[in-house]
Amino acid sequence: MLHIWGRSPLNGHVKISGAKNAALVIMAGALLCPQECRIRNVPSLADVRRMAEILMALGISVQQQDDSLTINAQHIGQSHAPYELVSQLRASFFVVGPLLARLGIARVPLPGGCAIGARPVDLHVRGLQAMGADVQIEHGIVQACVTGSSRRLQGARIYLDYPSVGATETLMMAATLAEGETIIENAAQEPEVVDLANFCRAMGARIRGAGTNTIVILGVPSLHTTDYSIIPDRVEAGTFLVAGAITRSEISLSPVIPDHLTAVLAKLREIGAEIVAESPNHLRILPMQTCLGTDIETLPYPGFPTDMQAQFMALLTLSDGDSVITETVFENRLRHVAELNRMGADVRVKGNHAIVRGVPFLSGAPVVATDLRASAALVLAGLAAEGKTTIQGLQHLDRGYENLESKLKQLGARIQRVVADAETVDLPVLPVSLS
Ligand code: EPZ
Repeated sequence: MLHIWGRSPLNGHVKISGAKNAALVIMAGALLCPQECRIRNVPSLADVRRMAEILMALGISVQQQDDSLTINAQHIGQSHAPYELVSQLRASFFVVGPLLARLGIARVPLPGGCAIGARPVDLHVRGLQAMGADVQIEHGIVQACVTGSSRRLQGARIYLDYPSVGATETLMMAATLAEGETIIENAAQEPEVVDLANFCRAMGARIRGAGTNTIVILGVPSLHTTDYSIIPDRVEAGTFLVAGAITRSEISLSPVIPDHLTAVLAKLREIGAEIVAESPNHLRILPMQTCLGTDIETLPYPGFPTDMQAQFMALLTLSDGDSVITETVFENRLRHVAELNRMGADVRVKGNHAIVRGVPFLSGAPVVATDLRASAALVLAGLAAEGKTTIQGLQHLDRGYENLESKLKQLGARIQRVVADAETVDLPVLPVSLS
């Protein structure tokens, strides 16, 4: 449980960790390499530890030294990931593409839905089928194998009905070792997709067009070792910018890549924030005088990121005007509205729109987090609210933020984590080295 006493101004500098959504898929991408790879700037998160457990369950050695992981996928012991691990981490589905590319076979339980939506994988499956994989889904398990004499995936021209981040990443990884050329059209353009492409290229993959809506991959026989550093987390950076804005404080943060935050910076400036670039990878937000209302629609990159929607809603509940927030990416990602309203916000949901009427203040209250970014939104609301807020459901927060409360405490926030009996969630501890 988190206790937060609101309305204390923040100041100082916060270090931004490596990007969760790059680290998770790049860890799976290391399966493509028959030699040892080193990945640096890996955030210390529950989801990262779970992904490491998945890799170790496949017989891969994973060693951690501070924020670096050494992954050796020379021998992949087996081709199926255990249900009890996959059910705890949807991103474990990312191992399907690399397993098919390396072994020609993969058995991975269907990742369940989660709080924000059904999270289907039909675009991943259809793309792999286009590349010559036979994919059956029985009893909740995806069983895929490469047919044909060569037992290698075949390059294909694939159009994605939706620019799915995960499907783009799965198909790009599978294509690196396929026979011939693969073209992914209507591909996702997120920075994490580009980071994965750069990691694969560092291992010798032939990929061009990552970051645009058309990615071309020319398969190669095998990849080689690399030592790669993950990009900083744009969602963590955006979350701290909102923390500065909602508490009317001045804070600075680095490292950041401002180009990854174009939509977020534009919206912050539109509502009255002043943000200066102290250096190419260092941003500072100045104390906000007023906060105007605005409209936001979440879209695939470079549109406004769905992963920043809940945090921005918390900020807009205290604006001088009204705002309409439209969530177009996930079908159930407005569940933080009820909890924000318990803190005195005035938000009404109509379909996938949230109509936010600004109120002069929020008041602290006991609230429950429902998903990762909703929990961040409740922390932000607690920082601005009058009085004390207690937040339950921290397992969501710990999945995606590295030491959020200690970083906020360093900035002057009055925040305390109290481990209530019911909450002793024993996170998996990654063994430091595996023989
Ligand atoms: C990734 O999820 C991120 N997770 C999400 O971050 C992020 O919100 C999302 O991309 C969008 O940017 C990781 O990278 C681990 P999608 P992903 O496939 O790949 C539908 C966070 O908070 N879809 O782009 O699952 C899907 O239902 C997490 O860090 C299909 O219909 O996102 C959704 O409505 C949350 N069929 C939409 O596409 C498919 O086969 C976008 O999903 C795949 C997706």
